[in-house]
Amino acid sequence: MRGIALFEEIRFLDTTLRDGEQTPGVSLTPEDKLTIAQNLDALGVAVIEAGSAIASEGERRSLRAIASAGLQAEICSFARANLPDLDAAIDCGVDSVHLVVPVSDLHIERKLKSNREAVLQRALEVTEYAKSHGLVVELSGEDASRADLDFLCRLYSSGIEAGADRLCFCDTVGLMVPERTFEVFRRLSALGAPVSIHCHNDFGMATSNTVAALRGGAAQAHVTINGIGERAGNTSLEEVTMILENLYGISTGIRCDMLYQVSRMVSRLTGIQVAPNKAIVGENAFTHEAGIHVDALLKDSSTYEAMQPEQVGRERRIVLGKKSGKAAVERALREFGLSVNHDQLCEIVTRVKELGDKGKRVTDADLQAISDIVLAREHEPMVRLQEVTVISGNRVTPTASVKIILNGKETLEAAAGVGPVDAAINAIRRSMVGVADVRLEEYHVDAITGGTNALVEVWVTMAKDDRKITASGAGADIIMASVEAVLEGINRLMWLEERKDG
Ligand code: KIV
Ligand code: ZN
Repeated sequence: MRGIALFEEIRFLDTTLRDGEQTPGVSLTPEDKLTIAQNLDALGVAVIEAGSAIASEGERRSLRAIASAGLQAEICSFARANLPDLDAAIDCGVDSVHLVVPVSDLHIERKLKSNREAVLQRALEVTEYAKSHGLVVELSGEDASRADLDFLCRLYSSGIEAGADRLCFCDTVGLMVPERTFEVFRRLSALGAPVSIHCHNDFGMATSNTVAALRGGAAQAHVTINGIGERAGNTSLEEVTMILENLYGISTGIRCDMLYQVSRMVSRLTGIQVAPNKAIVGENAFTHEAGIHVDALLKDSSTYEAMQPEQVGRERRIVLGKKSGKAAVERALREFGLSVNHDQLCEIVTRVKELGDKGKRVTDADLQAISDIVLAREHEPMVRLQEVTVISGNRVTPTASVKIILNGKETLEAAAGVGPVDAAINAIRRSMVGVADVRLEEYHVDAITGGTNALVEVWVTMAKDDRKITASGAGADIIMASVEAVLEGINRLMWLEERKDG
């Protein structure tokens, strides 16, 4: 598939820090914003819309910090068509403004209580003002998808005459469909200035519409990491990037191998979880369980994968459960250095399925425990819990002391943490210093039942050197369930190590 771009290169304007931050409940500190901006810059986006200078003192602080951080990307502030917004942006030292003018009659008449001619006049005045202060101007039509297209083109053409460097078409409430987007951009791209597409995902079509606009001649796509943004969000950077790279063969200049890492960081700092089934960056995007899939996948990964996980900085994950077959179980056992005969393998697969039938996600530790039973092996736990005491409250630093038997010797360690679970895990890790350098890579908790007395299930991924292992613990007490999961993970890692050495 070809014929996508009329302009030489396709650029991204990332608005994670402006439209993305408009996600209900998200509020980033200036430090968080700078961290995200540095990562977006490393990722290779051309423009970072880093906030709205008029919004608050904190916004101005972060815009100033980002504008003076020596990044490659153009740093942009959102601004409405008025002088205070523009003066605030100028004062922050940004390179450009995303200068937004409502253009649909609905917005002009109902929101602004104005008329088309007055809006057009204002757009020209503020464009000239911004240009006279040395700013790059992207003149943007808000609610453009509901505007009269002739009026919109007139406003854009006058904007270009007034000095606008770029134009932007906003599908503010996500009403476009790809066919119309393509047609509209065929017309807009003849205006003589690069045009951006800014889509919202209210009907789940932000990505398709953005790609259609690029095919129609858009020069720049507005995107956010993980597609976060107002209501149903904006177009996601990772989706458009991989569609262009893999399905159209266009080089975007984006460091695709950083996509997952940046997605995780934005999720952590914004507190917005990524849906497990989200394309490219969702937890399940490269995870497989079904037996027939795994069998074929192990022969040739392209049978059930649209792209290589490594391309976007990820790893393939094969999880075990009731749908697993012999190929997946044998592979997992082999990874743990275990070889079994055909009958033993069948027995292990049956037991894995039984566990899955009980509604349980089968961890690496579960698989090892099953294989111990089937192979009639016994292990003395190397780490055994004797006592755990945790202090927490609103006026104390959460602290835990943990007494464990480690290789037959009693050790007592204490540690603080951001919460009681963290403190308990830190105390366990401290006990392990000099014995085994284990890391907690992932921690996840599910409430199995509702209410304050809920049963919880804790999932951990523990790592030692480059070996990782998943383990779980369950119970009514989240601290004890976490300690159980972590100790199970550590014991399993140490047994594997012992087998490797022995
Ligand atoms: O979606 C939109 O219309 C916007 C503008 C305010 C730029 O984000
Ligand atoms: Zn928007």
